[in-house]
Amino acid sequence: MSNPHCKLTIKLLLSCFVIYSTFSILNYLLFTGSNIKNLLNERRPQKYQPYPIIEAGGGLNISSENIAIVIILSKSHDRSYYQIAIDSVECYAKAHGYEFVLTNDSNFGCDHIKINIFRRHCVLAKILVDYEAVVHIDGDMGIVNPKRRIQEYMTESSDIVFYDRHFAPEVAMCYIVKNTEYAITLLNEFAEYERKLPNSSHGSENGALHIFLAEKLFPHNQIDIDVCRIAWENSWNIVDQFAYTHCIRAIFGASIDFDKIRILRKGTGFARDDWITGGVWSPERDFMLHGWKMRQLAPTPAGVVKAGAMSELIWYSPFLGSFDMEKCSMGNTTWYYNPSLIASRETVEVVLQQEDVISAARKVNYFYRLYKVITNSFWWYIYQSHVWKSDYPLYFLNE
Ligand SMILES: *[C@@H]1O[C@H](CO)[C@@H](O)[C@H](O)[C@H]1NC(C)=O
Ligand SMILES: *[C@@H]1O[C@H](CO)[C@@H](O)[C@H](O)[C@H]1NC(C)=O
Ligand SMILES: *[C@@H]1O[C@H](CO)[C@@H](O)[C@H](O)[C@H]1NC(C)=O
Ligand SMILES: *[C@@H]1O[C@H](CO)[C@@H](O)[C@H](O)[C@H]1NC(C)=O
Repeated sequence: MSNPHCKLTIKLLLSCFVIYSTFSILNYLLFTGSNIKNLLNERRPQKYQPYPIIEAGGGLNISSENIAIVIILSKSHDRSYYQIAIDSVECYAKAHGYEFVLTNDSNFGCDHIKINIFRRHCVLAKILVDYEAVVHIDGDMGIVNPKRRIQEYMTESSDIVFYDRHFAPEVAMCYIVKNTEYAITLLNEFAEYERKLPNSSHGSENGALHIFLAEKLFPHNQIDIDVCRIAWENSWNIVDQFAYTHCIRAIFGASIDFDKIRILRKGTGFARDDWITGGVWSPERDFMLHGWKMRQLAPTPAGVVKAGAMSELIWYSPFLGSFDMEKCSMGNTTWYYNPSLIASRETVEVVLQQEDVISAARKVNYFYRLYKVITNSFWWYIYQSHVWKSDYPLYFLNE
């Protein structure tokens, strides 16, 4: 190593690398979306525009006894893992006369689907044939407002209704589905889609759902879809996945109705993430809340709780005490709440819209990242793993 030329070359290369990295990191840090967020807020002087939520009382005229609410648990978690959430759902079902189905995924003839979260949709399709419609929710989704009805969120023209999450570009993997040939085929094809997962950080069913729906709904946009598929195959982490998801959502555009599929916009769905408003909810708008695992239950702070985003790894119970399942009966929608978590529709929606502003600002960042993911730049991966973690929600650790 005494060759002076060699030493010089190494020094030069190292300097180049340090300069390149510094610029890249600076570039990234200056691009967190907060500057875009400020621009957006300047344009929203009134700060709040009510969401066009679905009002109580309307919807489809289907008898409640022909609708099932289905929760398919994995082998690793039983009911006690989600006690309050599942109690609220069962109590709600009794109040309206819905069928309540809590099951696991064995004995349905779906064992050819290897990955359990894909197998769930095959199981769902098998259960669906016994009803007019089925609601598929996760174990950690609870009913906060039993006065709402499932039928309100259904329409004549859609066979399956999804909803958009606030903080992410994702369609949530929960749906209300009618017993039709179209819907049953869709669910089975989706379950089979596990075979098409790439060897990347693909985001499992959430990742697959988007490209699956795009292929189904936009068969004449193969070129656009292939651009996104490259990103999916190159994905290294959750942020890459969101870049890919934005790529697909750009094909979908701003509509909510696609063939027989409806995707309810942010703020208008039948459920939403609880942590975004810090556990505060409004009987004027909310129905189901997502993110209720017993090990993450935190004591509700004393006094009035201010609506605002909190850690997605905790939640507060909106109820006083636990459910007395004996008292859950037809017509009883009188539940006892902790009043400090109840607020007006406006209070809740102002906070939800703040999250939508952040999402819109981050979208620009994700498109920037999309370019990097698609071109699969070597240098990008040398430094990117250090800079993305702080700016993004940790929800992916929250299985
Ligand atoms: C709903 O359907 C039932 C039975 O099919 C019928 O008796 C009832 O009048 C319908 N209600 C409305 C509001 O259409
Ligand atoms: C799954 O459910 C079936 C029937 O509901 C039950 O017999 C079986 O023991 C359950 N399996 C597991 C692993 O919990
Ligand atoms: C992923 O890797 C496995 C084994 O290395 C291979 O058999 C499979 O075809 C790969 N899948 C894709 C989609 O590239
Ligand atoms: C209705 O159900 C709730 C929840 O289980 C229960 O606390 C309440 O006592 C019930 N009301 C009546 C009148 O049974």
